[in-house]
Amino acid sequence: MKRLGVLTSGGDCAGLNAAIRAVVKRAITGYGAEVVGILQGTKGLMERPVLARPLDLSVFTGDILRQGGTMLGTVNTGDPFAFPDGQGGFADRSDEVIDGIRQLGLDALIGIGGDGSMRILRRLADQGGLPFVGIPKTIDNDVQGTELCIGYHTAVATAVEALDRLQPTAASHHRVMVLEVMGRDAGHIALASGIAGGADVVLLPEIPYDIQAVARKLATVKEEGRNHALVVCAEAARPIDGAVTTHADPGGTVHYGGAGQVVGAEIAQATGADVRVTVLGHVQRGGMPTSVDRMLASAFGVHAVDLAAAGRTGRMVGWRDGDTTDTALEDLGDGPRCVDLNGSQARTARGLGICLGDR
Ligand code: F6P
Repeated sequence: MKRLGVLTSGGDCAGLNAAIRAVVKRAITGYGAEVVGILQGTKGLMERPVLARPLDLSVFTGDILRQGGTMLGTVNTGDPFAFPDGQGGFADRSDEVIDGIRQLGLDALIGIGGDGSMRILRRLADQGGLPFVGIPKTIDNDVQGTELCIGYHTAVATAVEALDRLQPTAASHHRVMVLEVMGRDAGHIALASGIAGGADVVLLPEIPYDIQAVARKLATVKEEGRNHALVVCAEAARPIDGAVTTHADPGGTVHYGGAGQVVGAEIAQATGADVRVTVLGHVQRGGMPTSVDRMLASAFGVHAVDLAAAGRTGRMVGWRDGDTTDTALEDLGDGPRCVDLNGSQARTARGLGICLGDR
């Protein structure tokens, strides 16, 4: 392995720079390899000249490990197999991307991405015959083949901090505070932050909610003598008799967001409570990575380079039972890794009396 490429793909999150740094450090100090950073994900590989920069140890002056975002840039609307053609349609530009990779003369590529990016990068690698290793990242923590993705821990810490700030103001004003968090297909952020942040109700994409069950829980909180309550709502939560709340931008791209307002209005209607809604949004994606995300990103970066150097490519690194692991890309299940409704966190939430919207 003489020349290794690295790119970030899909939505950003905290810890990406720590992963890039680990890849570069391991590749150079462990194997004497050169590292090329590809800019703007697969979109950078469509540009001519290809958007890329050499990454050597002098780049990592001590601050990058701590920074949010990605020093390489990224795109989450750039599927090269269905790339917007600017006229409302889509074009397959995968050959250009593969040609871009060839122009860089890479022996292997490390792609840091979520489940969507992992599927795309795997397809590109297959089509181009390029040795590929994936590193999972997404605040949603829903990639198959790993218990943890880079960015999730920081997002949960941010949501918990928001609940810590909402609780005193809720108590002062005798209010129900609804906090909408991200989680497009899976409710990992909502459930973990709800447990750690002392929520009374947590609404997940995995369990369509009955507003009457939520109202009953809030009545119980009142009967028990508490004048306020905290509700965490995943952006993709939906009522038993309704749909997920989305909106389309002028280009027709559909975004989540607004579920918290819907739940807040339903709670006010069903209980008469004074309700306020906070949408945390992209605050969860930015900021300094927590120590857990830095450690995870560092472990993933080192493990990914070791796999590439050993010729064990076509795999994604992951975290299982307190250690790094790796899985063949073709063995990763389809679809997102959702919350296990019989798992530890769901049992913990129910054990604490948190209402998950169904009873
Ligand atoms: O997949 C991660 C995620 O943060 C989702 O939770 C959220 O719905 C989406 O990305 C938002 O993406 P964008 O950056 O396009 O607004």
